[in-house]
Amino acid sequence: MRIFSGIQPTGRKHLGNYIGAISQYVRLQDEGDPAIYCVVDLHAITVNYDPAELRDRLYDTTAILLASGLDPERCILFRQSDVAEHTELTWMLAATSTAHGDLNRMHQFKDKAIAQRELVSAGLFFYPVLMAADILAYNTDLVPVGDDQRQHLELAREIANKFNSRFGETFVVPEFTIPDVGARIMDLQAPENKMSTTSSSEAGTIYVLDEPKAIEKKFKSAVTDSGSDVVRDKEKPGISNLIEIYAVVRGVTMEAVESEFADSRYGEFKQAVADAVIEYLAPVQEKYTELRADEANLEAVLAAGAAKASAIAQPIVARARDKMGLGRPVV
Ligand code: AMP
Ligand code: TRP
Repeated sequence: MRIFSGIQPTGRKHLGNYIGAISQYVRLQDEGDPAIYCVVDLHAITVNYDPAELRDRLYDTTAILLASGLDPERCILFRQSDVAEHTELTWMLAATSTAHGDLNRMHQFKDKAIAQRELVSAGLFFYPVLMAADILAYNTDLVPVGDDQRQHLELAREIANKFNSRFGETFVVPEFTIPDVGARIMDLQAPENKMSTTSSSEAGTIYVLDEPKAIEKKFKSAVTDSGSDVVRDKEKPGISNLIEIYAVVRGVTMEAVESEFADSRYGEFKQAVADAVIEYLAPVQEKYTELRADEANLEAVLAAGAAKASAIAQPIVARARDKMGLGRPVV
């Protein structure tokens, strides 16, 4: 089973990324044949950015992934812009197999376009096509993602189907997997919104690299709802989110969390969640510091990953070009 996923090098990675995506990547790395993980710098440039900072953030993200347990001996970890097939295939898919109307319906484009103070680029509009190209270039069977990527994945499947029906069977139509628990971690200050790098509040976002003191402070000041019982309820998004976080981090069910804290009040429970998350992130933070300091090593890991990724993507994209009637015919 071939596994592929992508993660942006923008900003700092948060607990939502870690629980919803990164921990799945680590879990799946031995099930992939191979598992391929891509740091998507070409996606990151669709909104305003600074070139030097992009490189720094890319190293940060690569070091976080390695510190979390991705092992370059057991998976392929690479930088998107190192493999030219991604951009080439984006155009091929955009021109022949992507409906403008489908792109127009993408929620993330609408949200990000509203948030842009300067240019709303055509690249931002094309973002989901690049994402489809990332996936299809490897004949991916399974894509692990968080809940917010569902619409993009459905579009990638649609694009693969359109291409295959027009040019003949070429691409695998990818399945995706979203975790049962932790697919949508919410902002601690505004639990009706997802935790996110761009739109959520600093106080409501736990970063993977936050100091223990900061983590404790953020959980203690998390918005909770009226009442005092530690139980899930649609009307209580704040406490429900904390229950979900605690369950994932401790590896227990949400029911078990409710019974463990049946006699507790919110304050005591928040402290327990803070302690659990601090303990959960500590080993990642420790390894991160060492890995991040050695940029030459990070570059070496990415270069080795790119060579392996290219070797897979090249023949798949070459075959698609041939089916489209582009270039010299392949005999
Ligand atoms: P990004 O940082 O936008 O590249 O996201 C990387 C991965 O994290 C994607 O698979 C997202 O679906 C996932 N993700 C982002 N935010 C959250 C969240 N609040 N809860 C769970 N997963 C998330
Ligand atoms: N768009 C994804 C996000 O913001 C990142 C991404 C890019 C991705 N290419 C991908 C995820 C391919 C899965 C597969 O989270």
